Amino acid sequence: MSVIILKIGGSVITKKEKGMQADLKAIKRIAREIKEAFENDPTMKLVLVHGGGSFGHRIADKYKVHMGLKSGKQTLGFTKTVQVMRKLNLIFVEELQKIGLSTIPLQPSAISIQKDIKISEVFIKTLLLAMNLNCVPVLWGDAVFDEKQGYSILSGDHIVTFLAQKLKSKRVIFGTNVDGVFDSDPNTNKNAKLIRLITPDNVDKILKHVSGSKTTDVTGGMHRKILEVIPLVEKGIQIEIINAKRQGYILNSLLGNKELGTLISA
Ligand code: IPE
Repeated sequence: MSVIILKIGGSVITKKEKGMQADLKAIKRIAREIKEAFENDPTMKLVLVHGGGSFGHRIADKYKVHMGLKSGKQTLGFTKTVQVMRKLNLIFVEELQKIGLSTIPLQPSAISIQKDIKISEVFIKTLLLAMNLNCVPVLWGDAVFDEKQGYSILSGDHIVTFLAQKLKSKRVIFGTNVDGVFDSDPNTNKNAKLIRLITPDNVDKILKHVSGSKTTDVTGGMHRKILEVIPLVEKGIQIEIINAKRQGYILNSLLGNKELGTLISA
């Protein structure tokens, strides 16, 4: 039974307007959709990863945690980033548990380290033991110790690509706040078209039109996401980018519908 890895972007579960605020309505809906997917397929193996949104990015940016340790003053910012991400995770996991999902938070800064902003170690055994007991591990983008830089940001996307390979997953779903990858910016071009399929052959052409993120984002937007997943696609893993703000999309993608957004596949 292959593991599905579902990443929920920070922009889906947090509000960006007012400081740090979780989008409880969205989290509750997502929790219900995941529950329904399990009711339809009780054998489903799932790992959840969530992003930082307005919780992680601003504080990390304020203290330049993503640049690594340059001055001792940043260290408080590193610890604060870890703490705000724990707060967001607490809200997220609590909603999933409330409706009966056995979700277990696994704090990335406690079970993994990086070296030069790349994962060097993850204590993967905890995840495996959790899944053997039918628990759903929940990880998140975090600030983590870095053997070279003191600390750095481990993005949720990077956790996903790492775990997909380690757990020999066949499907990765990115639940974002956009419908998928467009051939031009849909915010400025009303004729922008959604690209349904990206392959290693057309990716370079497509990347020319895909920008980074428009909000404070210490880990880079869609452009980096696509670049990061191409090596997975070449190993036969399918990547789906869907709009997790749309009702039912997470449920339907978990149940196997691959036509909801952009599919990246070989
Ligand atoms: C960022 O994680 C985590 C921190 C800034 C601490 P992600 O890069 O996965 O977050 P989103 O999905 O873009 O918000």
